[in-house]
Amino acid sequence: MRIVVLGKGKTGSLVAGLARERGHEVSALDEFENPHGAALTAELVHSVDAFIDFTCADAALENMRAILGAGGSIVVGTTGWYAHLDEMKALAAANGGALLYGTNFSIGVMRLFKLTAELAKLDGYEFHIEETHHTTKLDAPSGTAITLKQVLEQAKPGIQVGITSHRVGDAKGEHVVRAKGAADELDIRHNAHSRRGFAEGAVRAAEWVNHRRGAWEFREIFDDL
Ligand SMILES: NC(=O)c1ccc[n+]([C@@H]2O[C@H](COP(=O)([O-])OP(=O)(O)OC[C@H]3O[C@@H](n4cnc5c(N)ncnc54)[C@H](OP(=O)(O)O)[C@@H]3O)[C@@H](O)[C@H]2O)c1
Repeated sequence: MRIVVLGKGKTGSLVAGLARERGHEVSALDEFENPHGAALTAELVHSVDAFIDFTCADAALENMRAILGAGGSIVVGTTGWYAHLDEMKALAAANGGALLYGTNFSIGVMRLFKLTAELAKLDGYEFHIEETHHTTKLDAPSGTAITLKQVLEQAKPGIQVGITSHRVGDAKGEHVVRAKGAADELDIRHNAHSRRGFAEGAVRAAEWVNHRRGAWEFREIFDDL
């Protein structure tokens, strides 16, 4: 596949390396090479099988507008832009584009979502989420923590779920879902040791999205990978 990675930061660089390891033809654009999505002409979009975005929320929105507007395919790992999700889905539908997005592309975290839905079945417990990330992370709470809260709320409508965020050193990403009862406490914890898990999930997502049209969240499709 021909893949273009948007963003040469911590995760984007790993994604590009992993996509090459998996035999893809890969190029990458940073914000100087792609200011406000300017490099994403219809000609480029039509020559690429899938874009993978690990930039920041504003840049990801500009990139999606250009790529989906031209009917291209994009996997979006960048978080913090979901207030515009309906607009992006509509853009994909109107132009025959493909949008695959997720707050977390780690397969381990996908399992955490499933275990969290199971934990929510407990009666008489209070639920709380704690997340810890590196100090340069721009958004808080993390997109993954927000998804975990949604998973709990969907499984048990009406419950109150608090989120506590910590920013520490170079932490790759830890999430704890806690159920606290009168007699005991139950934690489910996921800790990322490296960003490789996110990068691999994103590349496999790009392979999945190739030749498909529509919009999906990663957790809807990861079982197919
Ligand atoms: N879904 C997941 O599994 C997952 C996993 C990890 C991270 N993330 C998310 O991915 C995003 C990036 O995280 P990160 O840790 O890799 O951050 P990072 O190291 O700061 O990388 C972001 C990079 O994007 C660049 N950038 C900004 N605007 C751009 C543009 N218009 N075109 C191309 N590049 C642009 C930044 O350049 P400058 O440094 O020059 O500004 C920076 O190098 C965040 O939203 C984070 O929450 C998601």
